[in-house]
Amino acid sequence: MIYDVVIIGAGAAGLMCAAQAGYTGKRVLVLDHANKAGKKILMSGGGRCNFTNLGTTPQHFYSANPYFCISALKRYRPEHFVELVERHGVEYVEKTPGQLFCATSAKEIVRTLLTECEWAGVEIALSTHINRVEQKGDAMQLTTSIGTLDAGVVVVASGGLSIPTMGATGLGYDIARQFGLEVFDTRPGLVPFTLSDTWKARAAELSGLSVPVTASAGHRRFVDPLLFTHRGLSGPAMLQVSSVWQPGESLTIDLLPDEHAAESLRQARESTPKRQLSTWLGERFPKRLAQALMEWYPEQNPARPLAQYANAALDEWAERLNAWQLKPAGTEGWRTAEVTMGGINTDVLSSKTFEVKGLPQLRFIGEVVDVTGELGGYNFQWAWASGVACGQSC
Ligand code: FDA
Repeated sequence: MIYDVVIIGAGAAGLMCAAQAGYTGKRVLVLDHANKAGKKILMSGGGRCNFTNLGTTPQHFYSANPYFCISALKRYRPEHFVELVERHGVEYVEKTPGQLFCATSAKEIVRTLLTECEWAGVEIALSTHINRVEQKGDAMQLTTSIGTLDAGVVVVASGGLSIPTMGATGLGYDIARQFGLEVFDTRPGLVPFTLSDTWKARAAELSGLSVPVTASAGHRRFVDPLLFTHRGLSGPAMLQVSSVWQPGESLTIDLLPDEHAAESLRQARESTPKRQLSTWLGERFPKRLAQALMEWYPEQNPARPLAQYANAALDEWAERLNAWQLKPAGTEGWRTAEVTMGGINTDVLSSKTFEVKGLPQLRFIGEVVDVTGELGGYNFQWAWASGVACGQSC
């Protein structure tokens, strides 16, 4: 069978690319080994899919080449995707500023993409295994479980490695290496942290509690909620900081991001010397966390009146509150990570068409490429934008 374009991966980028290529009159086939299209879309955003972020800029992406994403993001902007979902009658809500979620279900996004593919005459073959991808003269040939397929162009949109139970594989990286392309080391991003024994037990006791914090690692800071869980630390602040955290490194967590604790504590000691430190903590944190802090640091005995604290002891508490140092044991890994950091070196790709320089019959789009967004709808915006740029130029 001969196709103009064969796309590997019926996920976010693959379906978007397929519809765009189909609208240009090309014969397009999408292959996926999963039994359903868009599985990650369905599970995203807690089942409501945070499908874009109105504030998307290239600064919201990690990549060894921060300029690579600019062209595609400029060409296909969040408003374009909003216009698409509105045309398909998808209702949505802006949960936090800029972050758009489906009002009902992520199924609406998959329905939109599949309808677009249908209108564009795209064929989709699910539960199909790809054994080999080769160059045959000016074209490409795929050996698959549905037979040998000839294609003018092969677009690899097989995504990253996160959540293998949802169908994630390293096929895209293998194809890239087969064609001599560099693949940067991959690691899980937007992933909860695990803690070692003592801290794991402490976090488990607070499981379900969420507090606003500023979390930092390296040179990056994120102002978002932290969530204590049975296994460690999660919530937007932890997911965000996990993408920049290096194993072995400590996190710095500001539990009082709007307050200079050293100043506040000294002022409180002066104005209300009989007030106990535990009362002061209780006014700032949920009861469970205030109590936990007192138990975690008993040597500082927070039941004492503030007047009994010397400057050094108050400063120690302030440091703990404004710059709590915590060394995670690790992360939950690919099992729960939302994204893959690293991937195919973008230097070998055209930022306009996503074709491999010197081999225009082969293209890579979406998460398999070394472009990874922060939390908040940026990763889907990248999938849509890279899919459109590639699909329209196939
Ligand atoms: P995607 O993973 O969507 O698609 C890849 C496709 O390739 C899959 O259908 C897969 O089955 C197929 N495939 C893989 N290996 C194959 C093989 N060997 N043979 C054939 N087919 C193969 N982002 C965001 O912006 N907002 C959000 O709310 C969320 N939420 C979220 C929650 C969770 C739990 C996860 C895991 C991820 C998110 N994300 C997100 C990230 C987002 O899902 C992700 O960045 C995009 O789906 C990437 O789109 P791609 O098309 O590149 O890969």
